[in-house]
Amino acid sequence: MPAVTVRELTRRFGAFLAVDRVSFDVEDGEIFGFLGSNGAGKSTTIRMLCGLLKPSSGTATVGGIDVERDPEGVKRRIGYMSQRFSLYELLTVEENITFFGGLYGLDKRRIAARRAFVLEMAGLKGREKTLTRDLAGGWRQRLALGCAILHEPSILFLDEPTGGVDPVSRRQFWQLIDRLSGQGVTVFVTTHYLDEAEHCHRLALMHAGRIAALGSVAELKQIFRERAVVEVRTGSPMAALRALDDLPTVEKTSPFGTALHVWLKPGIRDTGPLRTRLDELGLPAEPFEFVQPSLEDVFMDVVAREEAASS
Ligand SMILES: Nc1ncnc2c1ncn2[C@@H]1O[C@H](COP(=O)(O)OP(=O)(O)O)[C@@H](O)[C@H]1O
Ligand SMILES: [Mg+2]
Repeated sequence: MPAVTVRELTRRFGAFLAVDRVSFDVEDGEIFGFLGSNGAGKSTTIRMLCGLLKPSSGTATVGGIDVERDPEGVKRRIGYMSQRFSLYELLTVEENITFFGGLYGLDKRRIAARRAFVLEMAGLKGREKTLTRDLAGGWRQRLALGCAILHEPSILFLDEPTGGVDPVSRRQFWQLIDRLSGQGVTVFVTTHYLDEAEHCHRLALMHAGRIAALGSVAELKQIFRERAVVEVRTGSPMAALRALDDLPTVEKTSPFGTALHVWLKPGIRDTGPLRTRLDELGLPAEPFEFVQPSLEDVFMDVVAREEAASS
């Protein structure tokens, strides 16, 4: 049985549909990412899966337990790190660990053992007596992760765990996540950082309460398999963009840094017409290059299709 099963899960706030008939499974030991911009419905979904918010309709099981029938059973079995880490600012590092250990019903000896583990894992040895509010972002984040796994849950929910944390700490954090996953822990994580998505075994792209696409990064990039993307570098990118956009072989164009990306229509590989058009306009360009679509390209494309379909 998958670690998490979700069927037609829906949540309304009044007349507003925050999560709209979402369905997916998360396999045991998988790192499953929920990717989407602010307001997409990521936190609302995670809170329903953690037994913190009642679904309006649909079903979900976590570790085989129905989230609506037994939310307390779910809470005991999972680790949850909320979007704003729920640490106590005025407690020291070790007091937070002891407090959360007590909350999970661990006895003294187990708390002591787990405290040593968390201090080691989070790189907080020597900072046991530091007030949590005085810790830098990366340390607080790792302490929050440590407190969420004190009871050694087999399923872990992380809601934008790296928000507002510096890049080095983000990388260290993902090493910890990879390690947990290697030990068999199932990790469900939300993010709006596209680079973090590369750590996920599978991803759901969420937009306006719906799952717009789901698969591994490689599978998601397959939506571009028949469309070649050409990178064009020229001194007048905006003029080139307008000129190339009108060509019959071109599906769309978009600025990419100081260059442009030109999506050719499905099946077309010939860049001859692009060169001809630029030559006609007297716009010199460097030799064209075919480029691999990025996850950002995928995300933009999926969102554009969703918007077109719903308007
Ligand atoms: N308690 C609530 N009452 C009313 N609207 C809410 C509530 N919680 C979330 N929403 C709305 O639901 C939508 C999805 O929110 P959320 O799940 O937090 O998105 P995300 O985590 O992807 O940024 C947003 O438009 C948000 O304003
Ligand atoms: Mg959120």
